Amino acid sequence: MVKVTYVAADGTETIVDADEGSTVMQTALDNSVDGIVGECGGAMMCATCHCYVDDAWSDKTGPRQDGEDDMLECAADAVKPSSRLSCQIKLTDALDGLVVHLPQDQV
Ligand code: FES
Repeated sequence: MVKVTYVAADGTETIVDADEGSTVMQTALDNSVDGIVGECGGAMMCATCHCYVDDAWSDKTGPRQDGEDDMLECAADAVKPSSRLSCQIKLTDALDGLVVHLPQDQV
């Protein structure tokens, strides 16, 4: 299990146990976390899974994947250096304890 903390725009934290190999987006949907829509199911076609990786975790999640920058241009909320498509962050043991922040607007 990989623990992931989702911090909503109002500061509310939701902590869930995720399956290794799942993604930050899919885990949010599986656990009914508000703030992640994941409209395209992880095909990098929608940007409704936009999240901000906590600064303490940016090295471990690594850089954006090819194509993320283009898709993030469609994000409903501000894109920051920490912005990622959560469907592209695959959960491994190394990400146990990961913290991501959710944007105010997702669609
Ligand atoms: Fe559509 Fe991530 S779920 S881009």
